[in-house]
Amino acid sequence: MKSTIKPAEGKLGILLPGLGAVATTLIAGVEAVKKGISQPIGSLTQMGTIRLGKRTENRRPKVKDFVPLADLNDIVWGGWDVYEDNVYESAMNAKVLEPGLLYSVKEELEAIKPMKAAFDQNYAKNLTATNVKTGTRYELAQQVMEDIQNFKENNGLDRVVLVWCGSTEIYYEASDVHSSLEKFEQGLINDDKLIAPSMIYAYAALKLGVPFANGAPNLTVDIPALIELARITETPIAGKDFKTGQTLMKTILAPGLAARSLGVNGWFSTNILGNRDGLVLDDPDNFKTKEVSKLGVLEDIFKPEDNPELYGDIFHKIRINYYPPHGDNKESWDNIDIFGWLGYKMQIKINFLCRDSILAAPIALDLALFSDFAKRAGMSGVQEWLSFYLKSPQTAPGLPAENDIFKQLIKLENTLRYLMGEDLITHLGLDYYEELVEVK
Ligand SMILES: NC(=O)c1ccc[n+]([C@@H]2O[C@H](COP(=O)([O-])OP(=O)(O)OC[C@H]3O[C@@H](n4cnc5c(N)ncnc54)[C@H](O)[C@@H]3O)[C@@H](O)[C@H]2O)c1
Repeated sequence: MKSTIKPAEGKLGILLPGLGAVATTLIAGVEAVKKGISQPIGSLTQMGTIRLGKRTENRRPKVKDFVPLADLNDIVWGGWDVYEDNVYESAMNAKVLEPGLLYSVKEELEAIKPMKAAFDQNYAKNLTATNVKTGTRYELAQQVMEDIQNFKENNGLDRVVLVWCGSTEIYYEASDVHSSLEKFEQGLINDDKLIAPSMIYAYAALKLGVPFANGAPNLTVDIPALIELARITETPIAGKDFKTGQTLMKTILAPGLAARSLGVNGWFSTNILGNRDGLVLDDPDNFKTKEVSKLGVLEDIFKPEDNPELYGDIFHKIRINYYPPHGDNKESWDNIDIFGWLGYKMQIKINFLCRDSILAAPIALDLALFSDFAKRAGMSGVQEWLSFYLKSPQTAPGLPAENDIFKQLIKLENTLRYLMGEDLITHLGLDYYEELVEVK
């Protein structure tokens, strides 16, 4: 092994700020898997395999058998929400999973009651919060730290990770108060309104050396102050925005078009969804955060500045419409105007009838397990190798993101091989042919 990785001994606490559709689908799903009722489909850590060594060696263990990850049976759940519903009630409201399945894990879910949230109504105007902490931002951060420590002690946990599954916050950019840890800590004391609630959780976690992954598009840990804190406390961070639904499709398809040097001059994407996430995104300030996160991917994959003939005129438009009858079953349409040999035009239409939280839950699980693994492997700061799971990957300051899902997978797999002391796979493959020549 390249590094000494501490074993995944004892229990792992997974704390989720935001116990809505994604979080409850994750928790109920893992509990159902533990009971043998269901399979963790879509989770690379649980179902995926990884090739090791040469193709001729036929070594393809499951990821979870190759890397020392926490066992699902060792997970203890907790979280915060602005609503008082326990996880069973919240899962029933979210209507992602069938009542029969939820009933089979009812006892486990009912036992998880949300802690009071660190919240500011300005960051999600469409929510009616009833279960919230009071105090300045500094006091809220102290309270969240106490919550984390109490949760750890009361449950006899060895380690804890946080994954933000809270609503998308209104759009904000990094400003002076986010620019250094010193200014940020002063901002907490001053109760600076530019410090978003999600940052309070992130700060509390990082202060305690607890890894933090961000499933929403808001900046949260993607600010210099918290990157600095992550370095100081040697804590892994990752973000932003679970890569599900339409963007998942985009980052699967766009690399293929680019690989074949096919031109694209238009990509229109529209969605309808009717869950609470959709309700929050119905506010233009919250939608803006999502839009920015979703817009970046095509530019990064097509790189119009390098390929002006193929992608210089691309028109990319994204709409999200709140449509309650569909609930969590998001429907998306993409119209892609492409052109091929001699500029001849073609069109691709995609109509994806997906289930948002069904795609997000395994991502949240993998991010939690890999963040814990990264911490035990001595990795800290931005974990770019987890960008495979994220729509708007956080990278080192100034480093362009890689959005092509296949390159992201290669990066993830090679990181695991590297940490476990296996050869990296370059896919060059000339050695197979050189060996054949030698045999002759
Ligand atoms: N479902 C997906 O496929 C998907 C994909 C990518 C990103 N996301 C993001 O993940 C997040 C969760 O999505 P969801 O569908 O579960 O939404 P949801 O609305 O069902 O759940 C979010 C929960 O967060 C709570 N919340 C809001 N602010 C909070 C705070 N400050 N502290 C504690 N709780 C808070 C809300 O009350 C709500 O219950 C959203 O930001 C969403 O944009 C979801």
